[in-house]
Amino acid sequence: MKANQKTLFSRLQELRKQIQYHNYRYYVLNDPVISDYEYDQLYKELVKIEQEHPEWVTPDSPTQRVGGLVAEKFEKVQHPVPILSLANAFTKEEVREWFERITRLDRRVKEADFIVEPKIDGLTVVLHYQDGLFVKGATRGDGNVGEDVTANLRTIKALPLKIPVSPLSPIKVPKTLVVRGEVFITIKDFEELNRRLEEMGEKTYLNPRNTASGSLRQLDPRITAMRPLTLLTYDIVQIDENAPKTQSEVLEKLYDFGFPVVENRYCANLDEVFLAYEEYLKRRDELGYEADGVVIKLNDLELADQLGVVGKDPRGAIAFKYPAREIATKLINIGVNVGRTGVLTPYAILSPVEIGGVIVKQATLHNFDFIAQKDIRIGDIVLIKRAGDVIPYVIGPIIERRDGSEKVFVPPTHCPVCNQPVEHITGEVAWYCVNAACPAQLQEHLQHFASREAMDIRGLGERMSMALINANLVKDVGDLYYLKKEQIENLERMGSKSAAKLIEQIQNSKNRPLPNVIFALGIRHVGEEMAERLAKHFNSIDQLQKASEEDLMKIPTIGPKIAESIVSFFSLERNQQIIEKLKKAGVKLYEEKPVRAENLPLAGLEFVITGKLKSFSREEAEERIRALGGAAKSDITRKTNYLVVGEDPGSKLARARELGVQQITEEDLLNFLGKKS
Ligand code: IVH
Repeated sequence: MKANQKTLFSRLQELRKQIQYHNYRYYVLNDPVISDYEYDQLYKELVKIEQEHPEWVTPDSPTQRVGGLVAEKFEKVQHPVPILSLANAFTKEEVREWFERITRLDRRVKEADFIVEPKIDGLTVVLHYQDGLFVKGATRGDGNVGEDVTANLRTIKALPLKIPVSPLSPIKVPKTLVVRGEVFITIKDFEELNRRLEEMGEKTYLNPRNTASGSLRQLDPRITAMRPLTLLTYDIVQIDENAPKTQSEVLEKLYDFGFPVVENRYCANLDEVFLAYEEYLKRRDELGYEADGVVIKLNDLELADQLGVVGKDPRGAIAFKYPAREIATKLINIGVNVGRTGVLTPYAILSPVEIGGVIVKQATLHNFDFIAQKDIRIGDIVLIKRAGDVIPYVIGPIIERRDGSEKVFVPPTHCPVCNQPVEHITGEVAWYCVNAACPAQLQEHLQHFASREAMDIRGLGERMSMALINANLVKDVGDLYYLKKEQIENLERMGSKSAAKLIEQIQNSKNRPLPNVIFALGIRHVGEEMAERLAKHFNSIDQLQKASEEDLMKIPTIGPKIAESIVSFFSLERNQQIIEKLKKAGVKLYEEKPVRAENLPLAGLEFVITGKLKSFSREEAEERIRALGGAAKSDITRKTNYLVVGEDPGSKLARARELGVQQITEEDLLNFLGKKS
């Protein structure tokens, strides 16, 4: 090698070291010490040198993370020792039993200490390092033989391609090292990835675990490279020198080599273990990744080893699981509910399962589009989620578990309750039953109508409205005002007294202010505030009913969606009948507002009357002038507009002539007043 080549080669080595270190700061420690820009400059410089000298490219170069070819299948890998699983405990009691069981086997357990770690809900991977270089990585498989996913694992930036990572670390690198860890996706990255996949019209994943597994088992590592996989390690499977004696030492060593290491708690006894469990459970949503429990490990590895294995589960550790939040069960059927505004909502009828101590038989399916998008079929095994106070919902089908007997769900074309055709509104996901007489809707509408913000009819709750509908006494809200005490006093749980009370409440509601009446009608998209605005603008239901979409859209905050909804509400004959019924019953459908004087026909005009009138007394005439906004005075001034001259006029006539005030007859005055009284 020439001298200048030598300097270039040492620069290349320096760059690799630096990039490796900055990867580690960024992906493992989450604590970068240079900017993205500076990192990119280093990376570009390395790529340039490697392009000029392809003979210098080695697999541990940070540029070689995505390098593998598309495979036809994964090769098998024999694990150096069996990759064991864990027994589960679901209660403290079960953990205590485990503790007592192993104490009986070995008295030393009584004084033992523990390490508690979150149980990451991902995929086990087994990572092989030879002289500090990452040479092979495998899935767990059956515990003895796994699949070779080396090329895919190399794309995970948190995975060290060469150890030790940190130049500051004085640790001696073992010749052979096999590490066990968990590959997973953070919840944030999972949501982001699904959003991207959905945008591209591609199939979305059910949950982070499912995503991690799908991504790691891609035959094309370029696809894996685009997936936000990450890694945490927790075990040394094999090491040829200085084998750690405790789990604490294992975690320390992994850290010193530069691996990302799982969070953990040292616990001096079982009570502390339970505290750690509680703490992790409380912080479950803060971890950023799905954890389905904690793993309790005897800290003393020799002791753990001597306790041996039952089947595939070592005795020295146990998984203490959290209450489940997701569970798979059979979708027996899809039911459809009808809400107050007529929205049809599908829901899942499930083979009952327990999720976190609650038996779940039904779950939300959101809407019909959701069912189609996720290709949810009746008979599918579906994944259900119930987290915190959230109503259980269906995440999606587990396609792998189909047996061909599943049936595609066809959304109803008719309302499941009243059998009238359903309608779709452009731009909305929902399907609606537009039949206001639909019993399902009617019941909800009655309650809405009677609510405090609407007509405020106390005593018309869920049970009462159902009773009225079932007895066929009420087909729409308008019928309420025609109910007779005798008709309702014999209904279940009713009596003469409460019947009278309800009728009184209904009658009292006739004088509710206009905004409440508009709100009570239950027009889609018209809430309390909107009702208020409409009342102010239109003053009466009659006026509102006459308004076109353009009229409505002149009002600030009313867009095409609301305008369309209002117009279509009033265009339905059913609704027109309801309004007619309300009007006839005497429900006040207008706003009684004092009319402003300046808008009256005689506003600004001053009248004086002289002599006797034939049609009315002078007082009456004056009152009517005032009612129309005019002024009626007794003396003529320059401000007087008209002198009304009756029979036998007095001195006022002369005065009017003097001032040039116009004289009019009683006939003229009657014309001003609109003739008839
Ligand atoms: S220790 C013998 N520690 O849980 C050692 N496992 O249900 C057994 N897991 O297959 C594993 N986080 O994939 C251990 N902190 C952790 C873990 C963990 C997740 C997984 C691992 C294992 C499964 C057992």
